[in-house]
Amino acid sequence: MKDTQSAPVLGAGLPRVDGPRKLSGSALYAADHRLPNMAYAYGVFSTVARGRIRSIDTRAAEQMPGVIAVVHHRNFPDLHRAPNSFASGTLIDEPRLPFEDDQVYYAGQFVALVIAEDFSQARSAAAHVKPVYEPASPITSLSQGMAEKEPDPDQTSAHQRGDADAAWEAAGHRLEQTYTTPIETHNPMEMHASTAAWDGSSGRLTLYESTQSVVFARNTMAAIFGMPSEKVEVHAPFIGSGFGGKAWIWPNAVAASGAARMVGRPVQLVVPRAQMFTTTGHRAATHQNLRLAVDNDGRLSGITHESVNSTSMVGHRVELCGRCSKLLYACDNVRVTHATVPINLGTPTSMRAPGATPGMFALESAMDEMAEQIGLDPVEFRLRNVSDIDGSTGKPFSSNQVREALSRGADRFGWSDRQPKPASMRAGSEVIGWGMATANWEALKIGASSRVSLGNDGRTHVTCATQDIGTGTYTVIAQAVAAHLGVSINTIDVDIGDSRYKAGPISGGSWVTASILPSVTQAADAAIADLKSHAVAKGGVLQGNNVDSLVFRDGRLGTVDGPVYTVADVLQPQRLASASGEAETAADLSDQYSYHSFGAHFVEVRWDPGISRLRVSRVVSAIDVGRVINTRMARNQVEGAIAMGLGMALFEATEYDKDTGRPINNDYAEYLVPTHADFPDVDVILLDHPDTNFSEVGARGIGEIGITGLAGAVANAVYHATGKRVRDLPITLDKLMAQEA
Ligand code: MOS
Repeated sequence: MKDTQSAPVLGAGLPRVDGPRKLSGSALYAADHRLPNMAYAYGVFSTVARGRIRSIDTRAAEQMPGVIAVVHHRNFPDLHRAPNSFASGTLIDEPRLPFEDDQVYYAGQFVALVIAEDFSQARSAAAHVKPVYEPASPITSLSQGMAEKEPDPDQTSAHQRGDADAAWEAAGHRLEQTYTTPIETHNPMEMHASTAAWDGSSGRLTLYESTQSVVFARNTMAAIFGMPSEKVEVHAPFIGSGFGGKAWIWPNAVAASGAARMVGRPVQLVVPRAQMFTTTGHRAATHQNLRLAVDNDGRLSGITHESVNSTSMVGHRVELCGRCSKLLYACDNVRVTHATVPINLGTPTSMRAPGATPGMFALESAMDEMAEQIGLDPVEFRLRNVSDIDGSTGKPFSSNQVREALSRGADRFGWSDRQPKPASMRAGSEVIGWGMATANWEALKIGASSRVSLGNDGRTHVTCATQDIGTGTYTVIAQAVAAHLGVSINTIDVDIGDSRYKAGPISGGSWVTASILPSVTQAADAAIADLKSHAVAKGGVLQGNNVDSLVFRDGRLGTVDGPVYTVADVLQPQRLASASGEAETAADLSDQYSYHSFGAHFVEVRWDPGISRLRVSRVVSAIDVGRVINTRMARNQVEGAIAMGLGMALFEATEYDKDTGRPINNDYAEYLVPTHADFPDVDVILLDHPDTNFSEVGARGIGEIGITGLAGAVANAVYHATGKRVRDLPITLDKLMAQEA
């Protein structure tokens, strides 16, 4: 980005370029697509958590008005389980396909699908499908699973350096505690939905799917249906968010596509909100044991972080709770292990900052407990243990601004006024609690391809098979290309969310911005090169000049001291509509560094013991993600992550009936998330230190870091207000009201 023009566009707090389409209702989501002759599907979901389907009576349902077919394991086509790895380009967290056999592994599993002329007919008939089960006794919680089975250790994610046990034995100060987090369910506004259509003559599948990766969804569906990936196209122009729950496809996409092929008509299937709690993933429950050993100077000499998480009988999901514990602080003796226990619930998946979110709750709670034990201020304790090296790899961090995050956050918050003793800060009837925690998330960029066209209408068209899950990808791409070409952002048209374009990144892992910026700017360069070749060609406006002598600046092409030409001027004599170029960037991270983002959260809670009311009144978060591309959207991402972290800390837990394994609070009324009234005064400080070891632009991702550590900061503030240390999330009032043992 050499142009001086780029400064105002990159880094500006521009509003979303797709905002008007969303506000006017012209943005189409997966279930907004109405295809000719389309039929509607509604699922029949298992009411038992374990067993087999002995029989399934579909006769009554088939007689009902509008019913076209009832699909189940006896008539669904035989499909193929997709290879399951990032490298294979096909990923599915629940590899078992719907209707594969008569087995039931969790309540809410698809056991049949009714296809009808309209939605209400399908839904009514679904209630008349009568499966008869042969039930078996299920395991319905992580604690039950851990009581009945030995956890299965995950060898690949274990980390050990030094001797954590010897350090523990020798330490001047020790702390050992267990922390637990419950299952949390993704609740994006837009439910999972699939609109599937087959072209009978070509055998081609077109799928409108709410997905965080049109490319992975295409590849996975192609593998499942045994077709080359060119025969599948996946569209997701707009997505009502995903949070990791839509990273990979779920049984609904396979069920809808299989049914559409069976009935020879397009089929639309929306996953009801209740089944979002069973068959489209969740954040696993975790049980984490932490041991901290500290020397007399307040330096960590040993960290042991052993975690166990729930997984399903039909998938395998390791929640990497120790991913930050092994590298966030300087420590020579570290052991991090992960293990899983399969239970009879649906398959867990990624949920915003997977691993780090529950793991940092445990680590940062333990750090707070230890700070108090050794009589050190919690900020000072962390500052003493900052590391410029990732101890798990021995590599320096590409850029670690955690000291500045801690000190600027503390200053803005007014941390120096904190009185260390719990329940010592009062305002009227309320007790004020101040707590803090560090934030940490891995930074990565992956290869991405894209295409840029300079049109003779003065507009620039950018295409890429990536997608915008609501985070601002349309806008970031438009900003980057506008800045690079030196043109107004209003002249850039971005088309994404279509697997037919050049393959772009998955909207996950906070990868998109970092991955897409180099690609679209290189594609813009390729388009400029194409334009130059037309300018110097026979009959061109700059015929006879050497291409190397041409300069493209502020949207115009010319020589250094000669006249300049618009794109239309250049294209007109060649009778061309556009000049275009493509780029395919590699994941070119040097292995010299460890790439992470850091930050610090400061939280104020107010506890009114007279009426047992707890609220979070203030949050200051200082976050460093390298260069900030759009301050408005970056702030918005952190604010959203804070809201989600508050939900985790205070409200969120999917509760299951222990006998049936059915979720109890499976709707927006009972599954509590923060409302506007719960949302505190939030002050986000963006440090904005370009990380040029990471990329030329220096921008790491921002989607996930904001949630990491937040629940720990809340728990620490609650302890400071109440003197009660809650180690099992969420921090509900009953836990604060309980008498000390
Ligand atoms: Mo994210 S949890 O990688 O979508």
